[in-house]
Amino acid sequence: MSPSPPVENVAPREPDLWSTIVGRRSVRAFETQAVPRRAIERVIEAAGWAPSPHGSQPWRFVVVENSVRRYSLAAAMAETWRVQLRLDGLDEAEVERRVARSVERLQRAPVLIIVCLYLAETQSYPDAQRQAAEETMAIQSLGAATQNLLLALYQQGLDAGWMCAPLFCPDVVQTSLGLGPDVRPHVMLPIGHAAADPKRRPRRPLSSLIVQWK
Ligand SMILES: Cc1cc2nc3c(=O)[nH]c(=O)nc-3n(C[C@H](O)[C@H](O)[C@H](O)COP(=O)(O)O)c2cc1C
Repeated sequence: MSPSPPVENVAPREPDLWSTIVGRRSVRAFETQAVPRRAIERVIEAAGWAPSPHGSQPWRFVVVENSVRRYSLAAAMAETWRVQLRLDGLDEAEVERRVARSVERLQRAPVLIIVCLYLAETQSYPDAQRQAAEETMAIQSLGAATQNLLLALYQQGLDAGWMCAPLFCPDVVQTSLGLGPDVRPHVMLPIGHAAADPKRRPRRPLSSLIVQWK
């Protein structure tokens, strides 16, 4: 099946895969410039081409574009962030500073994509070990889908930054967005055009990645 046609009104970056892989980086500050709807559809389509256990495609995506919805989601999550940061022993001023920074991230980006785990169509096993492995596999493939999405975004001239925040308050996100119990929020991706080009973080050399080759 061929991919749907390229999106108009976006400026593609690197044409080749290697440049896209090493060019992508996490962006945490965005311009307010809108993102074409078709570009969002295309990157979600790219995510859907990721490998998954038994081809189960254990992912669903939520797109939050409306600024009022983005605001209420950020406000709901902020409550949990406050509780958790206080548990970490931070003083009130630091708690508020960090919460404000995260809230701003969600409000400034013109679009949020929430990558959700969907286990309703995965395989069931009679024993706990294989059942747990099935869930681990589904989460692994959620990572593959998210990386596809990030690479497709970057290639299209758009940017995103991975936020793990939904993992720490999935119920809050589900309630705020009115999601069913089978759609478990895992990853939040603020999406837009980067306000600046962040530095690439260095990577370990190849020699330290391979622990055995014989
Ligand atoms: C599972 C996962 C969770 C992450 N959570 C966050 C997060 O909550 N906030 C954040 O700013 N970055 C988060 N990141 C982004 C990493 O900090 C970033 O990928 C890493 O520092 C490498 O930088 P790069 O993406 O620019 O190459 C996360 C990345 C992954 C894979």
